[in-house]
Amino acid sequence: MNISMTINGRKVSAEAESRTLLAYFIREEAHLTGTHVGCDSSSCGCCVVLMDGTPVKSCTVFAATADGHSIQTVEGLKQGGTLHPLQQAFTDQHGLQCGYCTPGMLMTSLALLNRNPDPTEHEIRDGLSGNLCRCTGYNNIVKAVQQAAGVMSAGSKVEAAPAADD
Ligand code: FES
Ligand code: FES
Repeated sequence: MNISMTINGRKVSAEAESRTLLAYFIREEAHLTGTHVGCDSSSCGCCVVLMDGTPVKSCTVFAATADGHSIQTVEGLKQGGTLHPLQQAFTDQHGLQCGYCTPGMLMTSLALLNRNPDPTEHEIRDGLSGNLCRCTGYNNIVKAVQQAAGVMSAGSKVEAAPAADD
């Protein structure tokens, strides 16, 4: 069957079997290999992408389900040559070691900050509870999300300032 979706703003269409999982469609048809597959059974969160802004574990979503939808992967975070505040924060706070879990951590964190721009530490840990990391012990990941939250909310306040004067 033909499956079409928008991935990071680019339309991707390909022939795929109805049983094809979104993670494999992204990796093998769109050739975006930043989305990792760790467990293939909805346990680790390595494969999280945003579907219409909502985080989904792409190893348990059929590509056909995403037909006609908008997908954002980790490759869509960087704008031009500039890292997204979350990517910069994970770098600054040493929020990764091997990096295998990182794409899923970043996308889950983005969804968390989009719905809660100023989360508490508990809310961050709760928001990331579906993402497993074998390396970091999580503390630096939490610090990274806190750093990004500060940067992102400062940015939105700067952007919002002119509108407030109108
Ligand atoms: Fe999807 Fe582990 S690969 S949750
Ligand atoms: Fe290695 Fe998270 S950095 S699994």
